Amino acid sequence: MTQQPQRPPFADWLSKTNDITRTFLAASRVPGLINMAGGLPEPTTFPVAELAAIAAEVVHQHKQDVLGYGPVEGLPELRDALAKRFSSPELTLTRANVFVTSAGMQGLDLLGKVLLEPGQLIACQFPTYLGALDAWRPRSPTYRNIVLEDPAFDAVAALAGAQFAYTVPNFSNPSGRLVDVETRQALVDAAHRTGTWLVEDDPYGTLHYDGPPLPRMIDLSARARPGTPYAGPVVYMGTLSKEIAPGLRVGWVIAAPGFIEALAMAKLGADLCTSGLTQRVALAAIEAGLIEKIQPTILDIYRKRRDALCVAMREHLSEWLDWEVPVGGMFVWAVGRDPSLDTDALLPHAMAAGVCVAPSSVFDATGRNRRALRINFTRNDESQLTEGVRRLARAFEAMGVSRA
Ligand SMILES: Cc1ncc(COP(=O)(O)O)c(C=O)c1O
Repeated sequence: MTQQPQRPPFADWLSKTNDITRTFLAASRVPGLINMAGGLPEPTTFPVAELAAIAAEVVHQHKQDVLGYGPVEGLPELRDALAKRFSSPELTLTRANVFVTSAGMQGLDLLGKVLLEPGQLIACQFPTYLGALDAWRPRSPTYRNIVLEDPAFDAVAALAGAQFAYTVPNFSNPSGRLVDVETRQALVDAAHRTGTWLVEDDPYGTLHYDGPPLPRMIDLSARARPGTPYAGPVVYMGTLSKEIAPGLRVGWVIAAPGFIEALAMAKLGADLCTSGLTQRVALAAIEAGLIEKIQPTILDIYRKRRDALCVAMREHLSEWLDWEVPVGGMFVWAVGRDPSLDTDALLPHAMAAGVCVAPSSVFDATGRNRRALRINFTRNDESQLTEGVRRLARAFEAMGVSRA
């Protein structure tokens, strides 16, 4: 028998990810399980008829854009439409400020490629979006956790020496927190002073249930040079995933023109260009006002679900967990009253009880934070959320977690 040749090993970073993520990503396929782990939109909000009509139309009307290769920076008309959408009295944007990505995740991946040498430092809002940690893992970065809610938070010290700072100021994933205006301003001032890139990742900006939206950091930054095309340190990222549908895989990065050029170099080695079909669909949807049309229904459904989840949590989980009711987004972040709570250990009990939630370790670059849970409220209706919370309470009982 001939011996099999030894094959080269997989890259080292692959061994540094974790299995917990896989468990909860696979949860949607387990029959009967209530999945409150993912950040998934409610599929009945997808504007199916409108998107089907737009898609049919653009395939016929724009054959070359839709079926050929397109420019790496994105369809020029879509870049113009996004520049118009995000311009404000403070912020002047031109096409050169806008880059189209294959949704938000690609923006994060390209950001790592253009900014990080192996081992370099990222200043990161803590806890942090799991997908961002995944995107940057191949570069083995080091992290400085920045806790924006800490009364002693010092923005200049937080940003100094980092390659970039990563924040999700609107209803952060996972914490659901809204960063206040003073802290936004402090971060922007510190980015200008230290020269650090300040990433403002904003997939949830339109999902606000109580109160008006707060100013974007890129707008605050643009006040320094009003009336001129944006050239500052803020890198603003968005996506259609939560505003229309994640299957479109259309997102954007808005930044200084030099940053856009760097992203284009990285995208050449990733996918050459975002799908022309979905870019054309996105453009037509934006021009037809589809986002504004479906937004009230989305907000109404999600607000009711958030409220139902929090009512059920008050009834069944308040002996074990503390949380704040989020004013937007998709998640409640619940912290164990007992500091020794280990939510990695809770997960198998939760799965056995028929519910899946995301443990805090996956949102911590070091994996050490095991005291909290991220609970999604957008994907299940009110009765499923209530039942999911009852099952979670059974998991706490089964694990014998002490009651406060
Ligand atoms: C903070 C944050 N950024 C980026 C994304 C990426 O989303 P997508 O790739 O679907 O645009 C998500 C998705 O949940 C997110 O929560």
